[in-house]
Amino acid sequence: MIKVSAPGKIHFLGEHAVVYGKPALLTTVNLRMSVILRAKPEGSIANDKLKKIIEPIIKKKFNLKIIPPYELDISSQIPIGSGFGSSAAVSASYIAALLSHLGYKWDLNVINQLTFAAEKVFHGNPSGGDNSTVVFGGLVWFRKETPDLKIIQQVPFTIPNKLSKNFMLINTGNPKETTKDMVELVSSKVKSQKSKFKKIFEDQEQLVRELVIALKEGDENELIKIIRAGEKNLESIGVVSSYVASIIRTVEKAGGAAKICGAGGKTKGAGVLLAYHPTKNTLEEISKALNLPYFSTSLGVEGLRQE
Ligand code: PMV
Repeated sequence: MIKVSAPGKIHFLGEHAVVYGKPALLTTVNLRMSVILRAKPEGSIANDKLKKIIEPIIKKKFNLKIIPPYELDISSQIPIGSGFGSSAAVSASYIAALLSHLGYKWDLNVINQLTFAAEKVFHGNPSGGDNSTVVFGGLVWFRKETPDLKIIQQVPFTIPNKLSKNFMLINTGNPKETTKDMVELVSSKVKSQKSKFKKIFEDQEQLVRELVIALKEGDENELIKIIRAGEKNLESIGVVSSYVASIIRTVEKAGGAAKICGAGGKTKGAGVLLAYHPTKNTLEEISKALNLPYFSTSLGVEGLRQE
């Protein structure tokens, strides 16, 4: 029996701008996806759709004709479709378990590369930030330099406890739009409003750099300022619905900060929000009052691992 798990992820900051070559900071969250793989003479797998995506990727990479039969159980704490990277987490765990089943030694770089291939089937043209984060874990600095060259760097520190204890993830509901829809929406605006978007993306890059420093130094005031400014930029590019913007205004008025994480949504739900407040209780009260599910989970946890 092989058991593998991978965490979910969120975008700390830099989503959308990352598509245009700017850096993004991502982090794992302590909601995990687990897969258990057992060799079986008459193997079956409940999720056939997933099998049809993953097996051809493995066969192609290792030039295999057949894969010995197996059975796969998947269990998950990660909400689907809200920007938590559930597709990357399930693909990475499944791929890693299958490599063990086939007798290959784990190599995180290879698993990451194969998970990226699966992400392309799921999402069209993803940047690769999600898979890199769930595979390597921690806080990840990600930048696409060219289509083939990506800087994936684990940030060499953890978030100090005085900040990490005050984050909360609030789920505003699955967006109606897919990530692909939102990326295309931004792309069409970039074409017609070049200079406006260039300025916003440059500002977002600066904020991502400042965020890394604020996190390292445990600077709460700076952190709140950066999250608010980053969210403002995301609203300016049109990826935050008015429903979600009003939730975020409520958090800000109460003295905190919140931002969408990932592609966003323009109709109603925009997926998960990363929220921070010097007194976390306030975020719980707001979420309860608005009837929104929330998660008080650690950030920057370990990536893919064998259990
Ligand atoms: O939907 P998510 O959480 O995987 O985030 C998408 C992030 C974008 O920057 C909008 C697109 C990408 O591929 O990086």
